[in-house]
Amino acid sequence: TAGRVVPVSRTELARHNQVNDAWMAIRGKVFNVTRYMDYHPGGVDELMRGVGRDATKLFDEVHAWVNYPQLLGKCYVGPLKDTVASKK
Ligand code: HEM
Repeated sequence: TAGRVVPVSRTELARHNQVNDAWMAIRGKVFNVTRYMDYHPGGVDELMRGVGRDATKLFDEVHAWVNYPQLLGKCYVGPLKDTVASKK
């Protein structure tokens, strides 16, 4: 369903940790990077290090300057539910 934004729990995020089903959180935003996989200049193996989890730290260690919201605009899934701030 194109254009639908859904808040993502960490449990749900962790389910998408495969090369053909890869989600990644960066600064509180979850992206489906499955289709980006083959286009990542750092390669598949590097990108795979961050899937199924919050990859903010890894991402920033390598290339904090990369404009991921622009690159992954169409891959946006939704905000990562913060376990601390979450009401449910
Ligand atoms: C390189 C994008 C996640 C590791 C790059 C470059 C881009 C990019 C545009 C080229 C940068 C340049 O040449 O200046 C992304 C996006 C990500 C992502 C949009 C989020 C989905 C990650 C993660 C890792 C990673 C999680 C794991 C540590 C690398 C490495 C390079 C690289 C090692 C350098 C490759 C080289 O210098 O030959 N990435 N990246 N990236 N990326 Fe990522």
